[in-house]
Amino acid sequence: MPENGETAPLLGEGIPNLARTGNLERETPADRRRRLATIRAVVYTVLTVVFVVALASVLFLWDKITGVVGHLPKDPEKAALYILNNAPVIDGHIDLPILVRSAFANNISAVDLEKPFAGHVDIPRLRKGKVGGFFWSVYTDCPDAGSEGEDFLNATWSVRDTLEQIDIARLLVQKYSDTFAWTLKSSDIKAAIGRGQIASLLGVEGGHQLGNSIQVLRTYYDLGVRYVTLTHACHNAFADSCGIFEDPKPYHGGLSKLGYALIDEMNRIGMLVDLSHTSDDTAKQAIKYSKAPVIWSHSSARAVHDVPRNVPDDILKLIGFGKGQTDAVVMVNFAPFFVAEPGKADVKAVADHVDHIAKVAGKRHVGLGSDFDGIGDVPVGLEDVSKYPALVAELYRRGWNAFDLAGLTGGNLLRVMEGAERVAAQMQKAGIPPAATKYDKRTDL
Ligand SMILES: *[C@@H]1O[C@H](CO)[C@@H](O)[C@H](O)[C@H]1NC(C)=O
Ligand SMILES: *[C@@H]1O[C@H](CO)[C@@H](O)[C@H](O)[C@H]1NC(C)=O
Ligand SMILES: [Zn+2]
Repeated sequence: MPENGETAPLLGEGIPNLARTGNLERETPADRRRRLATIRAVVYTVLTVVFVVALASVLFLWDKITGVVGHLPKDPEKAALYILNNAPVIDGHIDLPILVRSAFANNISAVDLEKPFAGHVDIPRLRKGKVGGFFWSVYTDCPDAGSEGEDFLNATWSVRDTLEQIDIARLLVQKYSDTFAWTLKSSDIKAAIGRGQIASLLGVEGGHQLGNSIQVLRTYYDLGVRYVTLTHACHNAFADSCGIFEDPKPYHGGLSKLGYALIDEMNRIGMLVDLSHTSDDTAKQAIKYSKAPVIWSHSSARAVHDVPRNVPDDILKLIGFGKGQTDAVVMVNFAPFFVAEPGKADVKAVADHVDHIAKVAGKRHVGLGSDFDGIGDVPVGLEDVSKYPALVAELYRRGWNAFDLAGLTGGNLLRVMEGAERVAAQMQKAGIPPAATKYDKRTDL
């Protein structure tokens, strides 16, 4: 209790300062009655205030409170919608731009996303599926290995085509600017979701799209790209890939020297390192080396379905907050070929991948990276972007709570992005200069 008299005015006029009244035994019976009446009045006032606040909370903030204390609807479908209304999906990998390239020759005037659109994505279905954001994958095919040459030097169109993909994504975000919000930081994503918009980010799906140049990496960042997948299905100058159907023969044995320099620069500028499509050696080396958290933008669990594109348990164990671990989020891919044996891919099978990654790496390290519009087939029950609630309902049925589900749908990715943003800010504050590393096979520099 302060000794300087500051407490007195707070008690108000006519209310004895009990902290200072001293010897209470000497008060008269009248004094005592007055004192007790005063105390009673204060207590009732306080209780009334508490009651009114509680009542108001129940009436007006019931939504928020139930989310926190976990009194969700019993019906899993209703619970899923409830959770997604508060924590919408941020999908790590959607291939809409390559569909616009292949089906519409990059002519966005011919694209109407307000009506049912070819493929798995359009605005009505994004809304129905409670999508709050996604990475628009800006993808170009791996170059033909023969004409590219073994030094990866001849695929001159990869950067051009990537720029065209970026252009398509940006034009569509602009065309539907009521729906889509161009977002560059984790805080932008939260703000966009708060406004009811769909946060839109870019992801480059393969180191081959960098034209062997770290300068191109920086330029992509400036154009809004926030992750680069180190490889697609082909090896490139930076790293080895896992191929698609079978493991190709390693070329570098994981990351090349240039690949390590690329990760340094990605960490420095705040570009997320994406390890989907990489070989196991690339992934292990990259997660151990990266100063920033990493992602798998669209990969499932190999222990559940054994294909090279899925993440094995020994790599899942490198993920976490413990010693020798790195924070990461593995965003589960829905492609039936990666999910289950032919004919067996459905909502439950996808949920098995989520559950397994949660079991080995932890619930804070799993997310969703559907690969919609980049996959021909789809799981039964997860046919397009309107179906995410079915997966959330299935996991709710399996005992996932609102908090963990909010991490799965987007919270875990946001945490990883914030981590990468922090590392970049630290490295820039430390004055680390932009990398000038040159690919040693180039002869023009
Ligand atoms: C692009 O699509 C619009 C709408 O379908 C069409 O009118 C226009 O001719 C197309 N442009 C080109 C260059 O194909
Ligand atoms: C790559 O380009 C160089 C220079 O134009 C050429 O000499 C070489 O033959 C090309 N390599 C392949 C595999 O086409
Ligand atoms: Zn892919």
